[in-house]
Amino acid sequence: MRFHVMTLFPDMVSNGLNTSITGRAIEKNIFELNIVNIRDYTKDKHKHVDDYPYGGGAGMVMQPGPVFDCYQDIVKNMVKKPRVVYMTPQGKVFSQAIAEELSKEEELVFLCGHYEGIDERVLEEIVTDYLSIGDYVLTGGELPAMVMIDSISRLIPGVLNNDDSAEYESFQDGLLEYPQYTRPETFRDKKVPEVLLSGHHGNIDAWRREQSLKRTFERRPELLEKAELSSKDKKTLENIRKNLAIPK
Ligand code: ADE
Repeated sequence: MRFHVMTLFPDMVSNGLNTSITGRAIEKNIFELNIVNIRDYTKDKHKHVDDYPYGGGAGMVMQPGPVFDCYQDIVKNMVKKPRVVYMTPQGKVFSQAIAEELSKEEELVFLCGHYEGIDERVLEEIVTDYLSIGDYVLTGGELPAMVMIDSISRLIPGVLNNDDSAEYESFQDGLLEYPQYTRPETFRDKKVPEVLLSGHHGNIDAWRREQSLKRTFERRPELLEKAELSSKDKKTLENIRKNLAIPK
């Protein structure tokens, strides 16, 4: 997998993603990160990449020329047109399902906007997906691109140390993850749940599943509508609902 990021702030993306787990995976060539500075494609003698909006209004708009030339340089040796993601609060909200879908691509291009946005004509030419990371407004597309690349790349085999951990974390089967514990066995008078010390894997799995269901019910009940639930899960949920009901 190769990620291309078109940005005016390459250091921001590079510093973020060349760190920690993604940084190690890039070093090990498990995926590639190609960060391209849109400013390198301006023909303006002062290296400007933005201008005033036609029709007036606040702020500046990124000009189409440098963005288009940058894009053409990125795709010049590709056999097929890649998906080009534009980060915008006007997009569809990014999710684990979208991360999984995008993780199957060979090449992905992320276009980061700044100022009041990018001239619409170049977006129409090159963008295939408009994505948001939530209903709030950021100063630019770099953080959303980093969020998306982080979550997509951890689905690529070999990025996480332990192949299992991508499977069992939050949102597997549409449920939240069960609580985790490590040493010491007692912390501020609180003991690790007994079952986790038992060595009985069947009981541990059952306890974890119940905790996932309980946690999802308490914190994100709307997720239960779409979760994959067995008949045993449904019975467990019934009990959780009864036990959590406020006594009269
Ligand atoms: N650009 C600015 N705000 C954004 C958001 N919430 N998601 C994606 N891109 C953005």
